[in-house]
Amino acid sequence: MKKIVAINGSYRRGGIIDQAVEAAAAAARAGGASVETVLLAEKNIAFCTNCRSCMQEPGAARGGCPLRDDMDAILDAVDAADGLILAAPVNCFNLTAVFRKFMERGGPYAYWPWGAKAPAMRLAPGARKAVLIASAAMPAPFGRLFTGAMRALKLTAAGTGSKVSGTLFIGLSAMTERPELAAGDRRRAEALGRGLLA
Ligand SMILES: Cc1cc2nc3c(=O)[nH]c(=O)nc-3n(C[C@H](O)[C@H](O)[C@H](O)COP(=O)(O)O)c2cc1C
Repeated sequence: MKKIVAINGSYRRGGIIDQAVEAAAAAARAGGASVETVLLAEKNIAFCTNCRSCMQEPGAARGGCPLRDDMDAILDAVDAADGLILAAPVNCFNLTAVFRKFMERGGPYAYWPWGAKAPAMRLAPGARKAVLIASAAMPAPFGRLFTGAMRALKLTAAGTGSKVSGTLFIGLSAMTERPELAAGDRRRAEALGRGLLA
């Protein structure tokens, strides 16, 4: 059975990202996969301290982080997954702070010893698949062009050794207090979920 892990960076339950993640997850479950959803806002995740101790040892294995919180268990689930659903809303022209905090704590996926100018990713793309989902108040094409959301999601996919198999940017998602996922976006999210199993 394929294992899918959804990393959800929305702050509220029942919002657009929740609905899109659930649609993708339901399609993957219908295709025979198991899906575990990680609600980042409900986890204990400390800020990275930039100590870089996780980056000093070479090799493909993720480095060790001295911070003792929920991140190790989340990254264990990521490492065991065949596919990832990476999803978050846009706040202030980039992904939510809780998703950015999760990204920064992805340092163990990089090898960057002292003296080296730049980090190298430990995992080659292809260890698993990922689909990327973002939402914003602005129309979707503007969101793709003028926010850092997709770039940040792609960076997260790269760090986790994921090959991106599809993306969805949901625009005009802040017109009502309780927005409902449009039928077309639901279909696209479901197709992303199925695509993780292909
Ligand atoms: C503090 C805050 C900042 C936001 N910044 C932006 C922004 O820069 N650009 C944009 O298009 N939408 C912005 N939005 C709208 C959210 O992206 C939109 O409501 C999102 O789809 C919410 O996702 P959710 O339904 O999963 O909570 C912002 C919303 C909040 C509350």
